[in-house]
Amino acid sequence: MKKLFAVLGNPIGHSMSPLMHNDLFSYYQIDAHYLPFQVRAEDLEDAVKGLRAIGVGGFNVTVPHKSSIIPFLDEVDPLAKSIGAVNTVVNQGGKLIGYNTDGPGFLKGLTACYPSIKGKKVLVIGAGGAARAIYFTLAKEKPLTLDIANRTPNNALSLIKECPYSVVSHAYSLEEAGKQLVEYDLIVQTTSIGMSPNTSELPISVNEIKKESMVCDIIYNPLETKFLQMAKQHGAQIQNGIEMFVYQGALAFEIWTGIFPDVKRMRENVLRQLGGHTC
Ligand code: ATR
Repeated sequence: MKKLFAVLGNPIGHSMSPLMHNDLFSYYQIDAHYLPFQVRAEDLEDAVKGLRAIGVGGFNVTVPHKSSIIPFLDEVDPLAKSIGAVNTVVNQGGKLIGYNTDGPGFLKGLTACYPSIKGKKVLVIGAGGAARAIYFTLAKEKPLTLDIANRTPNNALSLIKECPYSVVSHAYSLEEAGKQLVEYDLIVQTTSIGMSPNTSELPISVNEIKKESMVCDIIYNPLETKFLQMAKQHGAQIQNGIEMFVYQGALAFEIWTGIFPDVKRMRENVLRQLGGHTC
């Protein structure tokens, strides 16, 4: 019998996950189908009960339900628990188990072209949900320092305090961090600043960027934010948000099926769809 997979969010219309996972199910000849469901916050518990009752294979969870889903699950893996957010759920013999593949997806995408952050000086820009997943995941990799720059430095301080993995960290304002960018080997931009349609916005001044540094933006629309364009002009190596998106999906697919899928195929598929959206 065909297995159902799903993504729950609100809004959900523009999600690229159905296309990505349905292509993988057919490529690996798995009898399954992945559907998007728009679920209001007040309906989330019922939605999870319904999915449980019909024997869903697994599902993704996206904005705004990543934290509020947790009480409706049977188990949550330790990293997801510490992050306080779940983006992937697997149904294991009737038990719904939650994972977070956002942080690990970012790390896997990064290490494909930047093998190790051990001993490196790292700056995360932003202190929201995405920053938290990335920060906690990177903290486990033993960077020399893992700093945060945020509009509200107190939010960065809270995030640092809540991180369960010990790492040397400082919280800065965006302005302060901009003046000392030359310090960092790796910079990860996690805010929505520069996302379409506000493509001329810049979270931080890039004038002080170090030439050989690695600069990532988790935004993928546009494919090259102004921040990435300017970092590239200053001689940095850059990576856009496609990698994190594709790898979080690949890790979810692996949790559901045991198969780590063809990431190149997934990337091409997503880029084809994005091309249609953005041009
Ligand atoms: P997500 O869950 O997608 O990461 P979020 O939780 O709303 O989104 O987090 C947004 C992040 O972007 C925060 O770090 C926020 O800064 P504050 O902590 O000061 O709110 C940052 N952010 C959003 N809009 C911003 C703007 N216009 N200028 C500067 N920072 C902004």
